[in-house]
Amino acid sequence: MINSRLKADLIHVSQYGRNPVHKVSEYHQLTPYNGVNRVTGSLANKEIRDYAIDCLKECGLKLTIDPFGNIFGRKEGTEKNKGSVMSGSHLDSVINGGQFDGTLGVFGAIEAIRRLNKENFQNKRPLEVAIFTGEEGSAFGKTLLGSSAYIGYTEAEEALQIKNKQAISLKDTLKNIGYQGKIRKNVEDIDYFIELHIEQGPVLYQEKIPIGIVESINGILWIYITIKGKSNHAGTTPMNMRKDALLAASGIVQFINSESVKLSKTPGSATVGTVGQLNVSPNAINTIPGIVELGIDIRDKKIENINLTKEKLLKMIGQLKDGLKLKIDYNIATFLPPQPLSQEVMEIIRESAQTIGVKYKFMNSGATHDAQNMARITKTGMIFLPSVNGISHSPLEWTNWDDIEKGARVLTNTLKLLSNK
Ligand code: HGY
Ligand code: MN
Ligand code: MN
Repeated sequence: MINSRLKADLIHVSQYGRNPVHKVSEYHQLTPYNGVNRVTGSLANKEIRDYAIDCLKECGLKLTIDPFGNIFGRKEGTEKNKGSVMSGSHLDSVINGGQFDGTLGVFGAIEAIRRLNKENFQNKRPLEVAIFTGEEGSAFGKTLLGSSAYIGYTEAEEALQIKNKQAISLKDTLKNIGYQGKIRKNVEDIDYFIELHIEQGPVLYQEKIPIGIVESINGILWIYITIKGKSNHAGTTPMNMRKDALLAASGIVQFINSESVKLSKTPGSATVGTVGQLNVSPNAINTIPGIVELGIDIRDKKIENINLTKEKLLKMIGQLKDGLKLKIDYNIATFLPPQPLSQEVMEIIRESAQTIGVKYKFMNSGATHDAQNMARITKTGMIFLPSVNGISHSPLEWTNWDDIEKGARVLTNTLKLLSNK
């Protein structure tokens, strides 16, 4: 039997950021075009935050909103001097994304608190729900922004002054949607963090296993490159007199792909490299591209592969500058090393899955998550659920309701066990 409240929440919030606005409750209702757009600061981002706040209040949790727009709900425990058990994720989305990335972990954590409240469970440790700002980087160009500022990995003022594409700072963006809090929540009194999340890859779905227990999260590097050449007439400018920015960019795109393919074949690697963002200016068929901006995403289990690719890329940039007489600048927006998760928490998740009687698999995460930051300050675990056809960051992202119910039960039991440790 699917617990209807979690399903109802996820269906309700699936409307936010969809155009035209509509809810999606079954896989067959998805189309490749109507994804969700809930970037930080958008109306849809405010709407889903507001809905989550109502749910947290309904659970009787004490609310805190910090200066970075991170939202926390807290239920005190029977033992005052014990560190809390926190669970949560994010509510922002990628552009034209899916409805479960992030929302599953937020409303799954809220559902777990609801179920523990319903059975009048007396938690020794405080229980907390966390909703982190800007995990996707889709508004401010830096992934895990809210949780990075929360743990102090990104300096507070630096985070607050980061600007979006409309040159509005995070601080003003949050003020505009009413989520720029004043109180910094300390990080010392959290003893455990758990994030429920869709796998966003093919493994669990292919192997028909409902629960993934994450052992480690791959390292990630985001580099933005701006290449400045010279716009000029495509018909009159001789080939030896051009400064074609897109020509240089195409070499970088080829390099990222060929280097990632090569490294991915080396033992123990999980190299992936993507140029997912490419802006050409003036982007006209009869004009030599003057400016090209690229966004590059490189990830791996092995940090040495990430560093090697970065070094080779920077060397290539130097050669292109000299060879093609171009101005090339780059900005390293995100760098997070591979992050192992807590053995202790993994074992508790395994115990919960066994108690509930569901199959599970230990696995690696190719996607980054706020848990990657939280694991730097406290004992952290992640529970994955199958992504249908392994698709995510797409309107066709889907996780079946019976898997979501299994995930909610494993999460609830895990919070229960940890809160009494
Ligand atoms: O990009 C990621 O891995 C995550 O979905 N933000
Ligand atoms: Mn996510
Ligand atoms: Mn995502």
